[in-house]
Parts: sequence; structure tokens; C-alpha cells
Amino acid sequence: MNPHLLIAITVVLATLIHFPALRCQEPRPYDICRESIECGDIDFEYPFWGLTRPVYCGHPDFQLTCQSDVPVLALGPVNYRVLDTDLTTHTITIARNDLWSNICPQYLHNTTYNSTLFDGNNFGQENVSLYYGCQDNIPSLPVMWPLAETFRFDCDVNGTGRTDSYFYRTSLVVQNIANVLVKCDNHITVPVDGSYANIGSENDLRSGLQAGFKLRWMANNDECDRCVRADGQCGSNSTLPELFACYHSEGGKWFSYLGLIHLWV
Ligand SMILES: *[C@@H]1O[C@H](CO)[C@@H](O)[C@H](O)[C@H]1NC(C)=O
Ligand SMILES: *[C@@H]1O[C@H](CO)[C@@H](O)[C@H](O)[C@H]1NC(C)=O
Ligand SMILES: *[C@@H]1O[C@H](CO)[C@@H](O)[C@H](O)[C@H]1NC(C)=O
Ligand SMILES: *[C@@H]1O[C@H](CO)[C@@H](O)[C@H](O)[C@H]1NC(C)=O
Ligand SMILES: *[C@@H]1O[C@H](CO)[C@@H](O)[C@H](O)[C@H]1NC(C)=O
Repeated sequence: MNPHLLIAITVVLATLIHFPALRCQEPRPYDICRESIECGDIDFEYPFWGLTRPVYCGHPDFQLTCQSDVPVLALGPVNYRVLDTDLTTHTITIARNDLWSNICPQYLHNTTYNSTLFDGNNFGQENVSLYYGCQDNIPSLPVMWPLAETFRFDCDVNGTGRTDSYFYRTSLVVQNIANVLVKCDNHITVPVDGSYANIGSENDLRSGLQAGFKLRWMANNDECDRCVRADGQCGSNSTLPELFACYHSEGGKWFSYLGLIHLWV
């Protein structure tokens, strides 16, 4: 398309879409979106909300709570501790709260996240699998898997008395070991940073779990970057929470550009 025509269309659309959301009032409701929230020495901005930050300053799926100075993000049934955030790369480092101080949790959950909201690739991470409730006295275990003792830990799964549990780097679960591990009741998979992939002891596993893993969030990142460069505040519309909103003040009036921000330059 002719670039001049494209610019003209963009300008017209932007003018049509851009409408005053709220007049200057005391207090102006979107000023609060300029303020980050802090928990345990970590600052959070968009897409996070919670504490004193209302949902319209964030993305609805990114609610934080602060539990004894630990920022906690719930992804599905599992709570994660947020260890670090990087706004420029849109990444968080998180660790499983249920496995933080105890690799024998009451309820077993895999590490899952909504792949529309998070991308866990390209961080050089490795999966570790934890197998619970394995049959003990598997006769030929040391022959099949000489290192079995190294990767064994005790966990009485729900008081069944089947305490034999194993952890192993998922990519190394080759056939012989898989034959052993099939005799376990249940297993879960947890990503760890690549530098922790060569797990050789239970302590290594604990360190890897506590170091956490990285996810990149995908919450209208490009639109938000553009909004911030234009001195706006990223958020969402309380009426249509699935839509991105850029709150922008001009001459004392607030404007919001809903969803269609990509047409606004
Ligand atoms: C949210 O969107 C509705 C419908 O487009 C609009 O009327 C309202 O002003 C918006 N609210 C904010 C805070 O931008
Ligand atoms: C214990 O039992 C509950 C309910 O049956 C189950 O959800 C949970 O995963 C079990 N825990 C383990 C460690 O298997
Ligand atoms: C975790 O995922 C694996 C593979 O997808 C599955 O076999 C296992 O049952 C899952 N564990 C739990 C506790 O859901
Ligand atoms: C993932 O998140 C998106 C955006 O909030 C939502 O539309 C979708 O239903 C979610 N998917 C699952 C499987 O929860
Ligand atoms: C780890 O496991 C998850 C789910 O089973 C999978 O989607 C992901 O690709 C695995 N990551 C690696 C590095 O193998």
C-alpha cells in the first residue's frame, strides 16, 4: 500500500478512536497507574496489579499478592514466588511455592502456564521430573540404573507408605530408567535454569527449584511499550477487561485508547 495513504488512514482512525475517557478530576484515577507496587524489594508495574494497584492498571490475569514480603503469582492451581522481573525484556523469574522448602508436597501439580500469556522457551531451561510413590524393592534396580540411589528421596505419598521417590532430568529418562519409573504412582515436571540441569543430589535439586525459571509475559507488550514511550500508562478497561488500554493525559484530560492501540502512532 502507498505509505502516504497508510499514514492518512492511521491518522483518521486514530482520531476517530481516540476519545476522552474522563475529565480532569480530583483525584485523577489513572495517576495511580504511574505508581509501581513493591513487595519484598521487587517493584511491579504493568501488567501486574494487586495491593494498591487497581486491576485497570494491569492485565486481569496478572494479579499479585504479597505474602510475608514474598510476591506471589497464581498460575492455575499453583502459586509461584516471583524472584525477579525485567520490564525491558518482559520476563519474570518464578519458583514453585509448593516445592520451595519441601519436595514432598501434599498435592501434586505439573508446572503449567497459559501459553497465550507466557512463553517459557529460549531461556535454556531444562525440565526435571519428580516421581512419587514408586514400588520399592524393584529387584534389578541397581543394574538397570546404577545411579538410582543418588536420585532417590523419601516422600510418603498421602500416607500410603510408598515412600520411594525419584527425581531425574526429564531428557535423560531413557528406556531402562523409564521402565523403573513406570512403577511410580505419579510424576510432575518442573523447569530449572540450564545451569542447574546437571542435578547430582537432592540439594542440587532444591537449589535448582529455589533459583526458579524464567517466563516472558505476553500482555500487549508492544502496545504497552509504545504507550509508555508516548508518556501514557498501560492498563485495561474495567468495562471490557480483555482489552488493552493506554491511559494518556493531555491538557488535564485523560484519554484512553482501547485495544486498537496498534493503529495509533
Ligand atoms: C472503557 O470502555 C468503554 C466502552 O468503550 C468506555 O465507554 C469507557 O470510557 C472506557 N473506560 C475507560 C476508563 O477508559
Ligand atoms: C494425595 O491425594 C490427593 C487427593 O486424592 C491428590 O490430589 C494428591 O495428588 C495426592 N498427593 C500425592 C503426593 O500424590
Ligand atoms: C504431569 O504431566 C505428565 C505428562 O504430561 C503426566 O503423565 C502426569 O500425570 C502429570 N502429573 C500430574 C500430577 O498431573
Ligand atoms: C489463556 O489466556 C487467554 C487470555 O486471558 C484466555 O483467553 C484463554 O482462555 C486462556 N487459556 C486457557 C487454557 O486458560
Ligand atoms: C518441559 O516440559 C513442558 C511440558 O511437559 C514442555 O512443554 C517443554 O517444552 C519442556 N521443556 C524442555 C526444555 O524440554
